[in-house]
Amino acid sequence: MFSRLLLASLSATVAHAHLAAWHKGMYALNGVSGSVDYNSDDVVTPLWQLPKDQWWFHAVNNVPNFPPADGDYLELPAGKSFTVEIASNRGETTLSFDGQFASDWPDGQTYPADYNVPTCITSPNMHTQNQSQAAGTAFAISYNSDITKVTPDNLVVFSVRYHTPWLRVTSYDVPADMPACPEGGCICSWGWVRRFLTFHSSVLTSSPLSFSKIPNGCGEPNMYHLPYRCMVTGATGTKAVGTPKPPVWCEDDPSSCVTGPKQMLYWNQLDGNNIEVSGYDLAGEARSPAYNSKCGFDDGAQNDIFTGPSISNSGSSGSSSSGSSSGSSSTKTTTVPSSSPTTTNAAPKETATSSSTANSASASASASATSQCKPRKVRRAEARKKRATTMHRRRSAHVY
Ligand SMILES: *[C@@H]1O[C@H](CO)[C@@H](O)[C@H](O)[C@H]1NC(C)=O
Repeated sequence: MFSRLLLASLSATVAHAHLAAWHKGMYALNGVSGSVDYNSDDVVTPLWQLPKDQWWFHAVNNVPNFPPADGDYLELPAGKSFTVEIASNRGETTLSFDGQFASDWPDGQTYPADYNVPTCITSPNMHTQNQSQAAGTAFAISYNSDITKVTPDNLVVFSVRYHTPWLRVTSYDVPADMPACPEGGCICSWGWVRRFLTFHSSVLTSSPLSFSKIPNGCGEPNMYHLPYRCMVTGATGTKAVGTPKPPVWCEDDPSSCVTGPKQMLYWNQLDGNNIEVSGYDLAGEARSPAYNSKCGFDDGAQNDIFTGPSISNSGSSGSSSSGSSSGSSSTKTTTVPSSSPTTTNAAPKETATSSSTANSASASASASATSQCKPRKVRRAEARKKRATTMHRRRSAHVY
């Protein structure tokens, strides 16, 4: 077991490190090897020019086949906010090693509060010059418990945080009117579209990728699309979320922004894109779709998404009684027994390389990690600190 962990940790040191939103309710918290990797960064590889069956929920490396442990949900308190940790590696969050390698920043390092690099910050790899220029990130929800039932037509952006990713601890606001999830919870997604930046950076020359199509770019304009199991707590909402529309670029004419429920931004993939842009924005930079006003997203809770049918039986405050919302068309097809949320049924069929055995191994490994990890954390802390340091050094050499 230990040698497998070691192997997984070592292979992580050569992966390209970027940023993702970490939470125990995420898929692939433990990585995608089938054993628990406290230094996992399997979810942080950005998605770029992939076919939809690979970029959707990061199936490119089988992330949807590794559900969170039984009972672990991203809890969305209606009318309040929830917190995730944006980091480049699980080892730099409080989800590993009692958080001893976590700092205020996503990579465990320390930077000035007014961190500003005119040629783009590359460490952590944020695709921005400073906080005010950060593109924004978002969470979306689908009122389905079965991840294979989630599509662009039922995954609705419900919360946006302008000027992120920035610090590690990041909070998102939940609309007060969010209805309860079906029995077994909902599926949520975190998204970030990385800015296309027209500043030159010498770091580019060390990148293994060609940026010939991106004159003077300082990084690849790729995106993130990660799955989580989530549930709404304290829900009193009586209207279902509506069918989302693709966002449009509307910086120069706010009256043309899409109002009401919106899809996540799907950009720069081989297929499945839902936005195209060309030309320059009002600041004179190449247009780059983002979870901000340029694509019609308000900061915070998206309160205009409840355009679906009325839900007759509301008032539940958690997942246990949320099956009562089955009158809604958006929840009708979704009933999955809450007692088996980590069943292999949830794994997409097309990711054949990861067997159902690996999947249940992951689930049980994760469950045992929850109960046994404390003493291990302490024992292995020193060895891992060494590896984490190595990772930091190597990480800064890669910029996508
Ligand atoms: C942030 O970066 C932009 C673009 O380089 C620059 O115009 C702005 O002055 C910077 N703001 C701060 C607070 O450094």
